[in-house]
Amino acid sequence: MKSFEDTWALKAKQEGYRSRATYKLDHIDQKYNLIKNARKMVELGSAPGGWSQLIAKKKSPSAKCLAIDILPMNKVNGIDFHQLDLQSDEFLKLMEEFNPNIDVIMSDMSANLTGVKVVDEEANFEINLFSLNLAKQYLSKNGKLLIKTFNNQNLARLKNEFSAFFSRTCTEKPPASKTSSSEVYLLGLDPK
Ligand SMILES: C[S@@+](CC[C@H](N)C(=O)[O-])C[C@H]1O[C@@H](n2cnc3c(N)ncnc32)[C@H](O)[C@@H]1O
Repeated sequence: MKSFEDTWALKAKQEGYRSRATYKLDHIDQKYNLIKNARKMVELGSAPGGWSQLIAKKKSPSAKCLAIDILPMNKVNGIDFHQLDLQSDEFLKLMEEFNPNIDVIMSDMSANLTGVKVVDEEANFEINLFSLNLAKQYLSKNGKLLIKTFNNQNLARLKNEFSAFFSRTCTEKPPASKTSSSEVYLLGLDPK
């Protein structure tokens, strides 16, 4: 019997996607229709490009998508990739140029693990707050923020932060996300 990992990785390979993470975004997109009607999107932490491939496939031809990663990423047609650290001034400059009114910000980022639970949880919380702050600065009136996060002691705090800014906050655990992992996705809809 194939392992969970093999099944999704094999499906990605057969369907030409660079990562099985594609199916996590696809599941959420099928439920909330993030991509099809968006005119401007930003994808944070995009390499190797599984999400970018899906976005390029589903977006309207005139829609723009900036994708950012500190690592290199092979080209995905229709996606404007920049190899940058999100903590850099160059990234902020890029956002200013892309501004205003971004319809969707998506982040599949997480911290590099140290193995020390409390340190890793705080580092992930900081990354999540970074994405939320970008949303506060740059999202359009009906904008959406999708982030990867983890079901740990910080999740309630994070949901409170989302609820203070968004009219609706949803938590998703896509089938392609391992049940043994505490990974979940948080979606904020319609800034207040
Ligand atoms: C799980 S991977 C993303 C996979 C992607 N969604 C896909 O479908 O192929 C997370 C990415 O976040 C990137 N990342 C983490 N911290 C970053 C930072 N400070 N600046 C830019 N990229 C970062 C990592 O390099 C990594 O490629």
